[in-house]
Amino acid sequence: MIPLKNRVLVTSALPYANGDIHIGHLVEYIQTDVFVRFLKMTGRDALYMCASDTHGTPIEIKASQRGIDPEEMVAQYNREHLADFEGFHIAFDRFYTTHSDETRRHAEAIFTACRDKGLIETREVELTYCEHDGRFLPDRYVRGTCPKCGALDQYGDNCEVCGTTYEPTDMKDARCVICGNPPVRRKSVHYFFKLGACHADLAEWVHGEEHLHETTENWIEANFLSQELRDWDISRDPPYFGFTIPGETDKFFYVWMDAPVGYIGTTDKFCQETGRSFDEYWKQGQSEGTTIIHFIGKDIAYFHILFWPAMLMNSGYHVPDRVQVHGFLTVNGEKMSKRTGTAVSARTYLEHLDPQYLRYYYAAKLGPTNADLDLNLEDFVNRVNAELVNKVVNLASRTLKFVDRRLDGRVGRIPEQDRAMLDEARARVDRIGHDYEDCEYARALRAIIEIAEEANKYFQDAAPFTSIKTDPEAARGACTTATNFIKLVAGLLKPVVPALVADIEKSLAIEPMTWEDLKTDYEDRAIGGFERLLERVDMKKVQAMIEQTRQQSESSGEGAGAGASRQDAGVADEQWKPLPIAPEIDIETFAKVDLRVARVLEAEDVKESRALLRLKLDLGDHERQVFAGMKNYVKPEDLVGKNVIVVANLKPRKMRFGVSQGMVVAAGVKGVEHEQVWLLGVSDEARPGARIS
Ligand code: 2FM
Ligand code: ZN
Repeated sequence: MIPLKNRVLVTSALPYANGDIHIGHLVEYIQTDVFVRFLKMTGRDALYMCASDTHGTPIEIKASQRGIDPEEMVAQYNREHLADFEGFHIAFDRFYTTHSDETRRHAEAIFTACRDKGLIETREVELTYCEHDGRFLPDRYVRGTCPKCGALDQYGDNCEVCGTTYEPTDMKDARCVICGNPPVRRKSVHYFFKLGACHADLAEWVHGEEHLHETTENWIEANFLSQELRDWDISRDPPYFGFTIPGETDKFFYVWMDAPVGYIGTTDKFCQETGRSFDEYWKQGQSEGTTIIHFIGKDIAYFHILFWPAMLMNSGYHVPDRVQVHGFLTVNGEKMSKRTGTAVSARTYLEHLDPQYLRYYYAAKLGPTNADLDLNLEDFVNRVNAELVNKVVNLASRTLKFVDRRLDGRVGRIPEQDRAMLDEARARVDRIGHDYEDCEYARALRAIIEIAEEANKYFQDAAPFTSIKTDPEAARGACTTATNFIKLVAGLLKPVVPALVADIEKSLAIEPMTWEDLKTDYEDRAIGGFERLLERVDMKKVQAMIEQTRQQSESSGEGAGAGASRQDAGVADEQWKPLPIAPEIDIETFAKVDLRVARVLEAEDVKESRALLRLKLDLGDHERQVFAGMKNYVKPEDLVGKNVIVVANLKPRKMRFGVSQGMVVAAGVKGVEHEQVWLLGVSDEARPGARIS
């Protein structure tokens, strides 16, 4: 990690104001919050800034579908998100919005400075346009048949089945996701940021001292810097919710142009409200005493590592000192999904479980790399109970209850013979501090739990519950040592589980601990009494949370994905219309399609594919392998033994994972925000191989 200055500005990615915060998002906010809490504990002047990301096509469309102004919708989400974050003890110093005068002003200043340097130019481009809706369509708003492999219902930029990339207009039967009509190509003048001109400066920054973890540095080098950098289209046509480009009336900044400027706009707002100096944070030449760190997910690394530094270095703003990239969350080893109930929203989680369980579990698994993190629900319950509850909470409860009830609520002196042991444990504080600073939380927590284990063993061996009968002062001595261990372990865990530690501080009758306080003795004093601390995690509550999420998905009709907050949200239920009927065919043409009943013998997930299941089918007199793009809609195990309908005389298709000998038919509604697929039914008694006519 980087050497930290005393003044540190930390950010998390700004959540889109168009969908719920879910447990996937929380990986990042928890990771950042732990980091900032640690810095604050050590006395650094750290600020945690965040805001709603409010602009762009999906937000504009969703608001118009709801019949409200986008301003109203983003304000609503802003309030809800902040409440969710507070529920998880995420302590921003300011949570603002990108739809603000401050962000507009800084976005314009960056744009103007870069344009004056010759880094921005206009160019005519040809884009996909829906004449019915009167709008240009981003790739996610076009669907159709892949021109290469014929897979149905693919996005306008690439095929999930064969991986080919193409232009939306190359697709067969391309159509607008909003209205179902075929789009056309239309010309428009757009603004481009000449990223290529910044290649050398960006390479220097990317390879600069500790700006990135080496896994990310290598990834950026291999995928981007080793090639020519493509210019970046930073403008959008109306209808759009965003800031108008200076000098234009109907061209807007693309959301990714002003979103990160929200980091600056939020700091500006905070500085106005608190009398701090904005320039000390963001102005090149005046912010040398500040370290700026962005925490982000790997899906948006490209924006933060290439575009963002390029914009800042050419406009007089402070270029980030570190971009800290984490991986994605999987649940039980799979991508989160509403269908299986694993895409749990922050709100639903909080209805069932204490936020600190998740904070602890994520921290226990997080390191500084961009490796994915798995929330295995069984492991979650076991680990939180075995470590946080059994080793930390129980030690505190047992000891403090004992002091409260049996020792008149007072601790004495630390027995001399315990000193060395306690000092040795305290000697680990600095290393654990470095681990927090380096985002090595998993390592920090292992070391802390080791101290807790030693403390438990000490308490068990010293057995004050026995010695109290014959030598109460020996019992008091043992409890004093144990209480000092509790204070140490609690203080070390404070960035991760702040509310639990606040309760322990109350039980110890001490002020909120700083990192310095961890090594001080706690002797000859009255404790604050005994409070009930954190309960064990109950697997039944976890199951109820998953079930509730599954039911929410069923009632909302959202089959796949993990929420609508990425920039790919699309049509809402009430907007859905059937596609236009295809051109007529005669009966002879239809009769050429040989549809058969087939029984699913085996079904398995194709791990390397985002969409495919591999099916082994019985067609009565032979077996076949078929790849079906149904991963997001059905569990493979639910298919086994069922009858499906297969297009049996479809030419076999060679795919990346093997040959597909036919196609399973299904009905589907595939907007972007909600997707539903129904397998076509045929009684499970029907004989495999029977022809459907
Ligand atoms: O990917 C996202 O969720 C974006 N809303 C993150 C923006 S981060 C910053 F650039 F604003
Ligand atoms: Zn349309």
